[in-house]
Amino acid sequence: MIDSNFIKNSKIDFKNVSRETFSELNYYTNAILTKNKNINLISKNTEKSIKTRHILDSAQIIDFIDKKDINTCTDLGSGAGLPGIVISILMKERNKLFKMIFYEKSFHKSNFLKDIAKKLNLNVEINQKNIFEQKNLKTDVIISRAFKPVSVIFEIAFTNFKKFKYIILFLGKTGKEILNEATKKWNFNYEEKKSLTSNGSFVIKISNLKKKMDKKIISIINQKGGVGKTTTVINLAAGLSMKEKKVLVIDLDPQGNATTGLGLSNSENSENTIYSVLNGNKKISEVIQETKFDRLNLVTSNVDLSGLEVETAGDSRRAFKLKDELTLILNDSGASYDYILIDCPPSLSLLTIMALVASDALVVPLQTEFFALEGLTQLMKTIERIKLNLNPTLEIRGILLTMYDRRNKLSSQVEAEARNYFKDKVYNIAVPRNVRLSEAPSHGVPVLIYDKLCPGSKAYFRFTEEFLNQEKQIETAA
Ligand SMILES: Nc1ncnc2c1ncn2[C@@H]1O[C@H](COP(=O)(O)OP(=O)(O)OP(=O)(O)O)[C@@H](O)[C@H]1O
Ligand SMILES: [Mg+2]
Repeated sequence: MIDSNFIKNSKIDFKNVSRETFSELNYYTNAILTKNKNINLISKNTEKSIKTRHILDSAQIIDFIDKKDINTCTDLGSGAGLPGIVISILMKERNKLFKMIFYEKSFHKSNFLKDIAKKLNLNVEINQKNIFEQKNLKTDVIISRAFKPVSVIFEIAFTNFKKFKYIILFLGKTGKEILNEATKKWNFNYEEKKSLTSNGSFVIKISNLKKKMDKKIISIINQKGGVGKTTTVINLAAGLSMKEKKVLVIDLDPQGNATTGLGLSNSENSENTIYSVLNGNKKISEVIQETKFDRLNLVTSNVDLSGLEVETAGDSRRAFKLKDELTLILNDSGASYDYILIDCPPSLSLLTIMALVASDALVVPLQTEFFALEGLTQLMKTIERIKLNLNPTLEIRGILLTMYDRRNKLSSQVEAEARNYFKDKVYNIAVPRNVRLSEAPSHGVPVLIYDKLCPGSKAYFRFTEEFLNQEKQIETAA
């Protein structure tokens, strides 16, 4: 039987593996020691204990791998072939289909792997490539031993692999803390086994890896006026808060429409508004106000904000001011917002740039009327410029069709064009033109509360669902 029993006493012997396997492992061990004189395969001070420290240590994951549903493994940054070569040797007699795939960017190391594989007639694929530059990889199992930190391995699994079932990792004494840290960003299940070769260490098999959504700061943006930005901010915020999410709305428009729409005043002095945060007079935590609605807070705005651009002209870091302040809020665990929604003004001014720099993602309301798409070209260009220079991970989360009129042919034409051009970035739900949506703000409440059964409310409830579902899709993409 090839299982971990054969290394119980830190000894590979004939009782547990076939004579052939044993001699192949020996051959490989000696090859490493010989090659280690010229290139650095293992650290010199582990040469004496190579059998335990490296060969047996690698071999102990065999129980995770010798399974019916596993035919391919990918060893990341394998170096000397630990554990990839060891596992290939052990699997040779167990599963004829089994194949080990290596990514090792060093020329000498990958040549060493090729020589060994050829000599021992192993079923392998050796890629002398940088794993970070690969895309759409498929494998049953990803293995990594001493290549990169866990968080980096997860990121590689998530972005560079299209398909995998498990990840197998070797963790040391601080492994539990490392896994704990990883749960901040990832959901996963794991099975662990005590290391047979090193006290306090363990090997784990990770399954169901999913990335937690960390796109929290979302700007509602379109430089065109009156397209439904503020209406969307107010009602998405209300919808999310009704779904038990904690939301902070930042009114970044001197018109202060989100402020009044959520029932606060935009005519008081500017001391407690976003203006005094952006000009450096106050911390953002000092100006956050509660609204009448549970879990929904607001940073208000008023007309003074329109002076900011001129007043801060000499400050070279001003584009980052909002980002810096919002980062403070997100790092303050007491605040624990699930989302920060920013209502942008109808311009591509400093305020909009601040929002683009601070945001993780954007929702673009698009009024289904003539010339609707033309305006977007300029917005897209601005977004690309910001990505290039100031915020590389910024993304468009979705485009929301607004003021949709079923009876008007133009609406469906604009819809068709938008879907054709932006594909699945366009939300399925389109918000209809509905007079209740324009009445609600004068009462200082979201339409979801003003008249929860009107068509506008139904649309914004469904939009909230779709917005939240996007995250589930992203989380399960791996
Ligand atoms: N689906 C809709 N049906 C009817 N009226 C709507 C709809 N959406 C928004 N409105 C109304 O249209 C006007 C403009 O909407 P809103 O203020 O949300 O747009 P905006 O993009 O924020 O405008 P601005 O660029 O001036 O900030 C408001 O009076 C609003 O109440
Ligand atoms: Mg507005």
